[in-house]
Amino acid sequence: MPLSELEQHIRCIPDFPKPGILFRDMTPLLHDRFRDTIDAVIALFSVEEWQGIDAIVGVESRGFILAGGLSYALDKGLLVVRKPGKLPPPHHTVSYALEYGQDSLQMSSNFTPQRVLIADDVLATGGTLRATCELCERCGHTVVGTATLINLAGLNDFMWNGLRNRALFTYGD
Ligand code: PRP
Ligand code: MG
Repeated sequence: MPLSELEQHIRCIPDFPKPGILFRDMTPLLHDRFRDTIDAVIALFSVEEWQGIDAIVGVESRGFILAGGLSYALDKGLLVVRKPGKLPPPHHTVSYALEYGQDSLQMSSNFTPQRVLIADDVLATGGTLRATCELCERCGHTVVGTATLINLAGLNDFMWNGLRNRALFTYGD
């Protein structure tokens, strides 16, 4: 399925959630073209690259959707990165800066080290992906890639270990 067809299922809403923000609503894409969307993300990486990935990391909460689909489609383990206070010990915590204040994410340190691909819906400032990469490494995993549905490229210059994020749709570059 051409990406231009999938893109038509993203709804743009001006001035949401705040004036001046163009919100890209992916709920129609998930409803209308979920399987094609997962397949399109799989196609961002080569067969050899997928062979080098042991598990998919999903970032709470919207990242769980893409990560779950990839994990199922590729029959790879699913690891979750959660908002604070949800995971039992042992886990690691990484804090990251928001526009106003800070937030943190947690990941279980109870799994054997794996080569992981991190999945999320949107890459905006990069704070979430960066914190997730750091968390994975603290837990002993090796980040071999990150994938998002959307990259708001004007807001970040995200790279991790020399790797650029791969996204279905890039805006503002
Ligand atoms: C949103 C989005 C990404 C993140 C991107 O998550 O789902 O995870 O922001 O922004 P960044 O690149 O500036 O970090 P949010 O924290 O709003 O929570 P949600 O997934 O639970 O909706
Ligand atoms: Mg999120």
